[in-house]
Amino acid sequence: MGTRIITIDGPAGAGKTTVSHLLSQKLGCVYVDTGALYRGVAFEIQQQKVEWENDAVLENFLKTLDLYFVMENQAFVLMSSGKNISPFIRTSDIALLASACSGKPQVRAALLDIQRHIARTTDAVFEGRDMGTVVFPEAACKFFLVADLSVRAKRRYDEMPDEAKDIHQVQQEMALRDNNDIHRETAPLKPAADAIEIDASFMTADQVVEKMLGIIEKAGKTQ
Ligand code: DC
Repeated sequence: MGTRIITIDGPAGAGKTTVSHLLSQKLGCVYVDTGALYRGVAFEIQQQKVEWENDAVLENFLKTLDLYFVMENQAFVLMSSGKNISPFIRTSDIALLASACSGKPQVRAALLDIQRHIARTTDAVFEGRDMGTVVFPEAACKFFLVADLSVRAKRRYDEMPDEAKDIHQVQQEMALRDNNDIHRETAPLKPAADAIEIDASFMTADQVVEKMLGIIEKAGKTQ
């Protein structure tokens, strides 16, 4: 690989994004949100009304898909065929569709190269569901971040003031997404055998990052 890769996997709402962002700043490397790629696929499926459950249709669609990240103000934004789609992929509808279509092996295969290509050129913190298990099995340090469902739902609810949903709906959708992500056949959400699990239910993001930094430092000394 040649570069230093840290992976952070875990269920939705465990705090991966905040923690990955802070950790990458402390380490002076880039942060890659791989969930954005799956959301990008879902966004285009929604826009183009693709019948993605039909394999032949899905495969044709994936051939035309042109998703990539560009760096803007030291953060990656997601582009699709030349258009910045980052502002449109954060809705709960897109999250659910991303979770559903990410079970298709063709979708996962189409996104694999994009992720590995970034890792060839730069040190990075990669956040996702299968970073430590499938995409970067050789990563320098792997974390699996978890938190109680009710804590995760509350966090997600607080993040989306504009959506007309109550907290129970948010929790239900999150449980559905967990279930999809854990039980799909290809690259299911699970900790890598050598991942370090951190339960962030009662920890602040800063506390989680401090803990990770301690582990990364120790791992560096023993390598
Ligand atoms: O991290 P997120 O909530 O933005 O991810 C949206 C969905 O994308 C998630 O429910 C499952 C899928 N995903 C995945 O299958 N593998 C990844 N590495 C990242 C996300």
